[in-house]
Amino acid sequence: MPSVMKPMGVLLCGAVMAAAACGGADTKPATAVSFNEDAWHPKLEADIPNDSLGASIKRGLYLLRFTPESLPQYATSSLRCTSCHQNDGLKKTSAPLTGAHSRFPKYMPRSGAVISLADRVNYCFTRSLAGNAIPVGSREMVDILSYLAFISYDVPVGTKIAGTNGIISMKDTLVGDIARGEQLFTAKTCVTCHGPEGKGNGPIPALWGATSYSIGASMAREERAASFIMHNMPQTAPGTLTAQEAFDLAAYINSHPRPDSPGKEGDWPMGGAPADVPYDTKDHKAHRPPASLVTRANPQGTLVPNPPSVGRAGGTLGAK
Ligand code: HEC
Ligand code: HEC
Repeated sequence: MPSVMKPMGVLLCGAVMAAAACGGADTKPATAVSFNEDAWHPKLEADIPNDSLGASIKRGLYLLRFTPESLPQYATSSLRCTSCHQNDGLKKTSAPLTGAHSRFPKYMPRSGAVISLADRVNYCFTRSLAGNAIPVGSREMVDILSYLAFISYDVPVGTKIAGTNGIISMKDTLVGDIARGEQLFTAKTCVTCHGPEGKGNGPIPALWGATSYSIGASMAREERAASFIMHNMPQTAPGTLTAQEAFDLAAYINSHPRPDSPGKEGDWPMGGAPADVPYDTKDHKAHRPPASLVTRANPQGTLVPNPPSVGRAGGTLGAK
């Protein structure tokens, strides 16, 4: 009977919705949603609505800009989120955060697990900022996530936009020359802002030493740092360095001591670490490790454990 058949069809359709296209020949599957990146613009501070959600978005933005001032117990280094995610996370060449809300949860090969956006934020707190993880259920985490959702407005789920696979990739074939990097550090004016000891100064972040990023940060990898430097530094004249110069500077900067990242040897648990990872992991030998590592004051706070399972024997709900 047709009157029974139709609802049946709808029901079946609902059951397979998640896996495949549904609803007729002219409906495209969700993965084919078109997104015109050139026509899309992230919302800016001036677009933040004047309501409760807007207040949370604004606090999230200010936490990104003023991380150590706002969260001194968690952001203990000279870095703030916008030291790397420049222009409030909107700059295409410096690991933009635009659309991040649409790309998580995702599988992260370094963790060997599917992780949430909150855990990804905490990886940057613990490794890039060499600080401590903030509680996932905290007001501050919600505010940061509110801002990340705000600058992901209208970006379809799963969309990668330019630069968002981290920093723009460079040819891994180049190898930096540390001695040449030392000369370029002065010749290319890095020293005037970041200082001869790489310590930074006020809003200018440190490049090495106890208040810089940790060995477990992406920036501690030669190619990742070279790409950031080539596309964004010197701050006053970005785009003036050759790729080789950027690799030389990255090699020089990353040859210095920096904070440790406890548990790093468990990264890439399935193997497959990129060639420039500066510490030993499964099937990988450290590439040019820093001269020494600075012990972390609160090693427990630096850990972002993979999400536990609940409700099964051995899960956290079962364990009493
Ligand atoms: C030392 C530089 C640095 C600092 C400081 C930093 N990050 Fe990151 N962050 C990165 C890099 C680099 C990546 C991309 C990873 C890659 O290149 O593989 C990234 C990735 C991310 C991502 C995932 C983006 C995506 O779409 O995959 C989020 C979210 C993020 N950072 C948030 C933050 C927050 C919040 C802070 C401040 C608490 C922060 N970051 C501080 C360098 C940094
Ligand atoms: C005019 C001052 C200035 C000069 C010159 C300069 N920087 Fe920076 N640099 C900054 C500032 C400020 C930031 C933080 C980004 C921001 O706030 O927009 C930064 C961030 C960085 C970062 C990422 C954050 C960190 O601390 O690790 C690296 C790496 C870096 N600079 C390397 C260099 C190199 C290499 C040179 C020379 C080629 C250079 N900089 C020249 C001001 C400068």
